[in-house]
Amino acid sequence: MMQKLEDLQKEFSSALKEVSDSSALANLKADFLGKKGKLNGILKSLKDAAPDVKKSLGMKSNELKEFILSEINRKSTQLEMEEINARLKKNWQDISLRASIQDKGLQAAGYHPVSIIQREIEDIFTSMGFEILDGPHIEDDYHNFEALNIPDTHPARDMQDTFWFQDMKHLLRTHTSCIQVRGMESRRPPFKFVGPGKVFRCEATDASHEAAFHQLEGMMVGKNISVANLIYFMKTLLSEIFRKEVNVRLRPGFFPFVEPGFELDIECLICGGKGCSVCKQSGWVELLPCGMVHPNVLKYGNVDTEEYNGFAFGLGLDRLVMMRYGIDDIRHLHSGNLAFVSRFKSF
Ligand code: DAH
Repeated sequence: MMQKLEDLQKEFSSALKEVSDSSALANLKADFLGKKGKLNGILKSLKDAAPDVKKSLGMKSNELKEFILSEINRKSTQLEMEEINARLKKNWQDISLRASIQDKGLQAAGYHPVSIIQREIEDIFTSMGFEILDGPHIEDDYHNFEALNIPDTHPARDMQDTFWFQDMKHLLRTHTSCIQVRGMESRRPPFKFVGPGKVFRCEATDASHEAAFHQLEGMMVGKNISVANLIYFMKTLLSEIFRKEVNVRLRPGFFPFVEPGFELDIECLICGGKGCSVCKQSGWVELLPCGMVHPNVLKYGNVDTEEYNGFAFGLGLDRLVMMRYGIDDIRHLHSGNLAFVSRFKSF
């Protein structure tokens, strides 16, 4: 009988070596320790043995049971590790991508200049206590126009050539100003946020116009906000971005969602104000339309206009990129030309 138990241990050990996954291990456990398993089979035949034999065999079979259990646990941990490692190996990714891109002969592992500027501006505004918001590219009439004080029949709708969907209710957002509306919907004043993103217009393209480009919307709502606050934030932003004082000018500008509205221009950094194709020979580049938020817009956003007011601005990111890096044609930005993008690798 003792011999039988020893044989069983050997049998188990060699069977265990063959096991290569967790379901085979479960079967093995049932085979040896289950109700109808091999160990029980031996124990059943013990019932007619003499009491002292029974005792020593009982002890031996308990030891064997402990041994089998601990071996199974050990194997189970080992299998689990192997399975995890196999999965990791299968899903392995080079998160730097640099080596694999270079293997394919591509040299352009870096951020697109628009992303570089966007991230930098987000950092500047975060440091001034602004939230960063996002919004959908496909918008509805309400968020893109109506709640921004541009009703259905308003001629201001013609200022922006819109890509409409067939239902004529949805559109590719023509500006990031919709993020103002969505931002107001989900918070109570006081608040301040910026919302960067792609916008789309059905425009003829030239050196300074693209059908898809980038803006960064900003909005601050609180008590007693003034034009002086607006100018302070805009000047801080521009001097941080260009890392020097830039010449700016403020002109009155019309946008239905602000009153008063302004155009903040910067002196062209491509030509130093002398006149070039980017500034259309004027020496100035329109960069930052802005103004005090129109009360109608605040009302659409459920803001109590007796108590609160605010400012808003819409920064053209592509133009800013062009000014900062001396790029003379906006069409480079979406050209997909690796020779162009790779120039920004080190930024
Ligand atoms: N949404 C306007 C456009 O794309 C830009 C703009 C103007 C945004 C004035 C503003 C603003 O927030 O106050 O033409």
